[in-house]
Amino acid sequence: MVRDNNGLFITGTDTGVGKTVITAGLLGALRRRGINAIAIKPIQSGGILRKNQLVSEDANFYGAVTDLSYTPHELNPICLQAPLAPAVAAEVEGVTINLGTMLDHFRRISADHQLTVVEGAGGLIVPLVGNEETVADLAVSMGLPLLVVARPNLGTINHTCLTVAYAKARGLKIAGIIINMYDHQNPGLAERTNPGLIETMTGVPILGLVPRVEGLTVEGENPQPGDLISIIENYVNIDQLLKSIKNI
Ligand SMILES: Nc1ncnc2c1ncn2[C@@H]1O[C@H](COP(=O)(O)OP(=O)(O)O)[C@@H](O)[C@H]1O
Ligand SMILES: [Mg+2]
Repeated sequence: MVRDNNGLFITGTDTGVGKTVITAGLLGALRRRGINAIAIKPIQSGGILRKNQLVSEDANFYGAVTDLSYTPHELNPICLQAPLAPAVAAEVEGVTINLGTMLDHFRRISADHQLTVVEGAGGLIVPLVGNEETVADLAVSMGLPLLVVARPNLGTINHTCLTVAYAKARGLKIAGIIINMYDHQNPGLAERTNPGLIETMTGVPILGLVPRVEGLTVEGENPQPGDLISIIENYVNIDQLLKSIKNI
């Protein structure tokens, strides 16, 4: 277990829920506050080949949102090409991976920063190494509290409660939940009622209802942040989030 490293582990109820967007937006907002924060992606599958090198689009997006003195490669120690769960992608590609590589990278980067935001892969029970070590094991080994990113619409109560229940069963602390792509102008019935219910059922605070960011794109050669940092500042309770993180 890594001790005394400040940080936050971003997980989601699923893949594609907005972990990268929330990670990058929080990173930008924390850095705007003068906090020496960094974001890392310990393992990426579905990496993109550029100039014969695999690149993590997630790590690339962090640098598109806020100026960083690190390349995407420096923020992502393991990058696999197949768009599969990391353990399966590694097997298909004949690559041997272990949690130790990810933990060493985390230790090195976090030693130089006040706060390290770690983006998981998929959800908590996604296999990282073989069929035994999962994203939850990585979060436990890093000793970090979780932030759960969830969808706003029908189905999200079940996914979010399951994620929180499993996290608690694994002894993970949960700093909060962020509901992403929330339509504040015209919320559907489920969207209106879900946040309150999720908070009551999980006992975990909802720290933000983040709307769609106009003009934002994560993927591609030229990712666009739109007004992401300001939107995170306006819609996420960063003060409360920071209280759940040690020593900031
Ligand atoms: N708040 C948002 N505003 C606009 N687009 C978003 C937002 N959140 C997510 N997206 C889009 O949804 C897709 C999935 O988001 P991403 O953060 O990559 O998910 P994850 O990291 O959980 O797989 C991306 O293409 C991204 O552009
Ligand atoms: Mg991502």
